[in-house]
Amino acid sequence: MDFIRLYGRVLKLLWKDRWVAAGLATANIALAGLLFLEPVLFGRVVDVLSHASTSTRDQVWERAFALLALWSAVGLSGIGATVAVSLLADRMAHRNRLLSMHSYYEHVLALPLSFHGDIQSGRLMKVMLVGADNLFSIWLAFFRDHLSTFVAALVLLPLTLAMNWRLGLLLLGLVVVFAVITAFVIRQTETAQGKVEMFQSRLAGTAQDALSNVIVVQSFTRMASEARMFGDIVRQVMDHQFPVLNWWAVVSVLTRAASTLTVISIFILGTLLHLDGKATVGEIVSFMGFAMLLINKLEGAVAFVSRLVFQAPGIAEFFEVLDARTSVPERPGAVSLGRASGQVVFDKVAFAYPGGPRILSDVEFRAEPGRTLALVGQTGAGKSTAMALLQRLWDPVGGRVTLDGHDLRDITLESLRRNVGVVFQESMLFNRTIKDNLLVGRPDATQDELERACRMAEAHDFIIRQPKGYDTLVGERGASLSGGQRQRLAIARALLKDPPVLILDEATSALDAATEARVQKALAALMAGRTTFIIAHRLSTVRDADEILVFEGGRIVERGSFDTLVQQGGRFAELVKTQLTASAPLTAAQPVKAAE
Ligand SMILES: Nc1ncnc2c1ncn2[C@@H]1O[C@H](COP(=O)(O)OP(=O)(O)OP(=O)(O)O)[C@@H](O)[C@H]1O
Ligand SMILES: [Mg+2]
Repeated sequence: MDFIRLYGRVLKLLWKDRWVAAGLATANIALAGLLFLEPVLFGRVVDVLSHASTSTRDQVWERAFALLALWSAVGLSGIGATVAVSLLADRMAHRNRLLSMHSYYEHVLALPLSFHGDIQSGRLMKVMLVGADNLFSIWLAFFRDHLSTFVAALVLLPLTLAMNWRLGLLLLGLVVVFAVITAFVIRQTETAQGKVEMFQSRLAGTAQDALSNVIVVQSFTRMASEARMFGDIVRQVMDHQFPVLNWWAVVSVLTRAASTLTVISIFILGTLLHLDGKATVGEIVSFMGFAMLLINKLEGAVAFVSRLVFQAPGIAEFFEVLDARTSVPERPGAVSLGRASGQVVFDKVAFAYPGGPRILSDVEFRAEPGRTLALVGQTGAGKSTAMALLQRLWDPVGGRVTLDGHDLRDITLESLRRNVGVVFQESMLFNRTIKDNLLVGRPDATQDELERACRMAEAHDFIIRQPKGYDTLVGERGASLSGGQRQRLAIARALLKDPPVLILDEATSALDAATEARVQKALAALMAGRTTFIIAHRLSTVRDADEILVFEGGRIVERGSFDTLVQQGGRFAELVKTQLTASAPLTAAQPVKAAE
C-alpha cells in the first residue's frame, strides 16, 4: 500500500507536465492497441491462406491485400507513435529530474540548523543524487515502455476473452500468476531493500565525514581504521542486498516457467478446440502471438517492478527530506523589518534543545542601540545558545526575544537575519575567490567598497600580497589562508553586511596575541555604532563592554561593568583572578590587558 502511495507521489511530481503526460498516456494506449492488432492480423492472414482452396485466386489476393495494407498502416503508425513517445518521455524525464533536484536543494538550504546538525551533509548529497536519478529512470521507463504494458493488461486482455474466451482465460491466468508472484516477492524484499538503502546512505555520510576531516585522518594515521569502518558498512550492504537478489532471481525463474507452460497450454488447448471446430488455425496463431507479446511485456514489467522495489527506499528518503519542515516557521503576516535601530531585549527567556534538559532559564537583559554587551562564563554555560535565539535558529520555550520591540516570531526571518551579523570563532569561507567570499556580505558592493571594508578589517594588505589579489581562490573552507587572515576576511564580510546588531562569538580566540591585537582594531571598527554582543573567554577582550553578563548553568548570575564586577569580588572577579594566575607565567613579557 505504501509502495503504491509512494509511486502515486512520484507521478504527481509531473503535475506541471500533466499535458505532456496525458499525451504520452494516449500515445501509449494507441501503441498497446497497435501491438495487439498485429497478432490479430497475422491470424487473419493465416485464415485467408488456409481457406485458399475454397476461394478463387482473385478473392484470396483481394483479402490478402486488404489485410496487408492495413498491416502496413498499423506498422507505420506504430513507428510514429514510438518515436513521439521516446522523444517526449526523454525530455519530460530529464527536465523533471533537474527540476526536482533544484527544488530539493533549495529546500535543504533553507532547513534549520537543527536539521543539519542531525544529518551528515554527504548523506544529503547522496539522497539528492540517488533520489533524482531514481525518479528519472522511473519516469522514463514508465512512459516509454511500461505504461503501454499496463494498459494492455488492463484494457486489451478482456478483449481477447471476447475473441475466444477459453484461450483468453489462459492468458488472463498468465497475468494473474505474474502479478501474484511479483506481489509476494515485493512483500518479502521491501524491508530488506530499505535496510540496504539505509546502509548506502550511511556509506556516503561516513565517506564524506572522513574526507572533510582528511587532515585529522592522516595526522592520527587513521587511514586503515577509517577504511575498515567503510568496509564494514560495505559488508552490511552486501549482506542485506544478496537475499533480495536471490528472491528476484526466483521470480525470473518462476515467470519463465509460467510463460513456457502458457505457450504449451495454448497449443494443446488450441489443438483440442480446433479438432472440435471451436477455433480456427488463425485464432490459434493469433493467441500464440498474444501470448508471446504478453510474456515479453510482462517480463519487462516484472523487471520494472523489481527495479521499483530496489529504488523505493531511495525515493522515500528523498521525499522524507522534502517533507522536513522548519522548526522556526514564519508566522503568516510576519512583518518585514527595515533597518532596525538595534534594541535587543531578552524577556524571561527559557530554552531547551528538543528532548534535552533546560539550557537557559530566566535570562533577562536589555541592549540599547549601539551598546556593547559581553557574555562570559564557563564553557557550556549557554552563551552561544542565547545568541542562537537572537538569530532565531531556535525559538525559546518560555519568554521572548525582541528586536526594536518586535517579538522575533513576528518578523520575517529574512529581515531578522539581514539585521543581525555574526562573526564566529571559525570563519566559514566558501571555496571561491576572496572577492566572492566578501560579496556574500553585500552582493552589490563595488570594488571600492570591498577594499574600504578590507582596509578597516586590516585585511587589504595581505589580500594584495596573494598571487591573484582579490581573485585568489581560498581553498576548501579557506584552507589556503591562515586563521588570522580568515578571521579578518570574516570581519570584512560582516562590515560589508553592515548590520545594526552584531554577534562576536569567540571571534578572536583562535588567534595569537599579535594577530589578535590587529584583529581587535578591525573589530573596534566593526563594532562602532552597532549593538554588539561579545562572547569571549579571554576576559581582556571584554574590558570595554558597557555591561558584562556572567552566565552560569544557563542563568545570569552577575551583571555590571568590568570594574564594578571586579570590585564586587564575585564569580567574575574569581574568573579574572584565575585567568591572571594561569596566564601570568606565559605572558610575563606582555601583561594581559585585564590586569592593567
Ligand atoms: N545543537 C545542540 N543540541 C543539543 N544540545 C546542545 C546543542 N548545542 C549546544 N548544546 C548544549 O547546550 C549547552 C550550552 O551550550 P553553549 O554552546 O550555549 O555553551 P557556551 O556557553 O557557548 O559554551 P562555550 O563557551 O564552550 O562555547 C551545552 O551543555 C551543550 O552541550
Ligand atoms: Mg559557545
